[in-house]
Amino acid sequence: MSKKLWGGRFTQPTDKFVEEFTASIEFDQRLYAYDIQGSQAHARMLGKQGIITVKEAEQIVAGLDDILKDIEAGKVEFSVELEDIHMNIEARLIERIGAVGGKLHTGRSRNDQVAVDIRLYLRDEIDTIHSYLAALATSLIKQAEEHLDVIMPGYTHLQTAQPVLYSHHMLAYREMIARDISRLQDLRARFNQLPLGAGALAGTTFDIDREWVAEQLGFDGVTRNSLDSVSDRDFAIEFCSFASILMMHLSRLSEELVLWSSADFNFIELTDAFCTGSSIMPQKKNPDVPELVRGKTGRVYGNLVSMLTLMKSLPLAYNKDMQEDKEPLFDTLDTVKGSLKIFAEMIAEMKVKGDNMRIAAARGFSTATDVADYCVRKGLPFRQAHEVVGKTVRYCVENGKDIPELSLDEFRAFSDLIEEDIYDYVTLEASVNARKATGGTAREAVERELARLKK
Ligand code: ARG
Repeated sequence: MSKKLWGGRFTQPTDKFVEEFTASIEFDQRLYAYDIQGSQAHARMLGKQGIITVKEAEQIVAGLDDILKDIEAGKVEFSVELEDIHMNIEARLIERIGAVGGKLHTGRSRNDQVAVDIRLYLRDEIDTIHSYLAALATSLIKQAEEHLDVIMPGYTHLQTAQPVLYSHHMLAYREMIARDISRLQDLRARFNQLPLGAGALAGTTFDIDREWVAEQLGFDGVTRNSLDSVSDRDFAIEFCSFASILMMHLSRLSEELVLWSSADFNFIELTDAFCTGSSIMPQKKNPDVPELVRGKTGRVYGNLVSMLTLMKSLPLAYNKDMQEDKEPLFDTLDTVKGSLKIFAEMIAEMKVKGDNMRIAAARGFSTATDVADYCVRKGLPFRQAHEVVGKTVRYCVENGKDIPELSLDEFRAFSDLIEEDIYDYVTLEASVNARKATGGTAREAVERELARLKK
């Protein structure tokens, strides 16, 4: 005899391969706790409204509690024949408490059930991700606070541009992470509405109390249109979009860590725990973690595109296609959680080679703009100052000298506006500390920023 909960209309058993092909239990079983939580709230509401008796509701709630315990104890073997997590749990409930278990699905459909399950699950995962993001932001701030003396080359086009504080560079990533957190909070607030009560698509004939269920499950309110409630996956797409932007940030940071830990840059050292060796080259210590995070960014983008493509031509309301929303969403969640967890620790423990950064910062005529600004302050229009310093740099290149090494006569060969005090402007410290306005790299500006973040 078939175990199926929808067998009534059918005379022939489902083809075995079709059964496997259409089943989602293999991946949606991770929703079990949320499926039970949603079902319990629904059952209590049915009891409260007199749609079933309070006693029946209690039996259902207790039965579901037992099933939860069994699943957690690893005692439950899910069945492909029962297709998905919803029917696996419901069938087990009926097996356990008898026909009264069959009253749970009153006024409900798997379409609104799955919609509520994913929201509950995603909401919890988002709260975990939020805490990981906060930990990463803290690690970045810690790096910034501990290395306020370190000056590194700031780049544009990966060519030395102007010296900056390493702390400033770390805080740039903190800004990105702060925006990621804000995006996450936005999307969480937007989707925290109860879809249950939409039924299959049109609502239900029973006198349900959706507002009460919403409150029980910690939703801020109820969704306003039953068709939309069962067919909306915007929230999952928004999450994947948030995740893509976050991974793009982590990937940029990864790229820098990979470069910086190379022998050529030699700016940082990642602790051994985050690296691996080579099976052939004994000297190697490879930055696998940042490399992998950079690589995993690709699958997260892919998941976003999968979700958008999945939804783009679906007529209202529910379509079976939508079962395909889960794997990309789950994969995105796992990837983001893993990457963040490991990054927060890796960044906090990263060793900074400040001396090497400083040597690099002094190369590449990084204070050329400061000489130009100096001339401007002496009255030269900026365009002319740019020309003067351009020629000075060419002279340096041709003569193998650096800007601070030029004699006053050499400087003055390009502009007689330049005087002895030029040497106060062309050191790394002077260059950095001259950029005091909010958002600049001067030590006092960075310290002000750190103090603000502490608050
Ligand atoms: N396993 C299904 C999914 O994930 C649950 C909803 C099924 N609804 C239906 N009418 N077949 O989308």
